[in-house]
Amino acid sequence: MIRAVITGTGSALPVRRVSNAELAQTVDTTDEWIVERTGIRFRHLAGAGETTSSLATEACRKALAAAGRDARDIDLIIVATATPDQTFPATATIVQAALGIDDCVAFDVAAVCSGFLYALQVADSMIRTGNARCALVIGAETFSRILDWDDRTTCVLFGDGAGAIVLEAEQDGDRGILYSRLHADGRHNQLLYVDGGPSTTGTVGKLRMKGREVFRHAVVNLAAVMEEVLASAGFTAADVDWVVPHQANARILDATARKLGLPGEKVIMTVDQHANTSAASVPLALDVAVRDGRVKRGDLVVLEAMGGGFTWGAALVRF
Ligand code: COA
Repeated sequence: MIRAVITGTGSALPVRRVSNAELAQTVDTTDEWIVERTGIRFRHLAGAGETTSSLATEACRKALAAAGRDARDIDLIIVATATPDQTFPATATIVQAALGIDDCVAFDVAAVCSGFLYALQVADSMIRTGNARCALVIGAETFSRILDWDDRTTCVLFGDGAGAIVLEAEQDGDRGILYSRLHADGRHNQLLYVDGGPSTTGTVGKLRMKGREVFRHAVVNLAAVMEEVLASAGFTAADVDWVVPHQANARILDATARKLGLPGEKVIMTVDQHANTSAASVPLALDVAVRDGRVKRGDLVVLEAMGGGFTWGAALVRF
């Protein structure tokens, strides 16, 4: 039996780190409001020359080094992003060229904040069916470029960054992606969206969100999909070593963990440092927890995310 195993992780953040207090100099908000409602204290914002592909490429280089792999070993690149460098070509092909890879499969996946979970299931399926052996799966975003900086209800919540994993085929091992499950419900398109696009306005558009409604759906959907993944793979919440959630809001993370009966210490939390980096948030948080020694080989890890669409999903991984 072939399984897809995570053999390396990497991440990248823009140079500029912005505190809530600095943001409050130009946005009608306060550090107290942001911390109390979201847990966010800092976010990194891309400057001139920093793009989704440049952050993705840096994350990939670190993931390749961690896996002990050369870029020439890669036969599949998937970038999950809602903020591609250009409408086309796919950001994955820009990353491919930057890494000096002449020929491999490369494409983007658009599922907003759930994008990394979507990309992971696609890569896992391609590896298990023999269509790829060594993949780079990336979440990368520059959401600062689609924020309305006059809308204090959204602009304080997001940041830029990238996370990447190397995912490799392994025969008959215990490790790897054990089970993953994805969902979408397009009836909720208008609760979290961008008010522009190539085929409608011909512009990039800005992010719009009804935060309170999103919050309500997020807790219910995330707890349900985690339970679904654990039950399908024959585990319970008590078996889980770590949850690496999408980093939207500390209150969503706490409420979801409580609903599942998971102690807060098992939940990796980076939203305080990075804010919501959309598709980048899960691989970014995973890389932080791998590098600081919390997530170790053999641990049972749940990855989960929910985003615009709505889309949501979870994956159970023996790391
Ligand atoms: N600074 C100060 N005040 C702010 C503010 C800001 N940045 N943003 C909104 N407010 C004000 C509002 O104007 C409102 O004031 P009013 O009562 O005088 O009208 C008040 O704070 C409460 O706003 P509300 O939107 O009801 O707050 P909330 O408790 O629902 O928190 C969110 C707002 C966005 C933090 C919360 O709904 C949330 O986190 N939602 C989920 C969003 C998310 O994670 N989305 C991504 C999923 S991928």
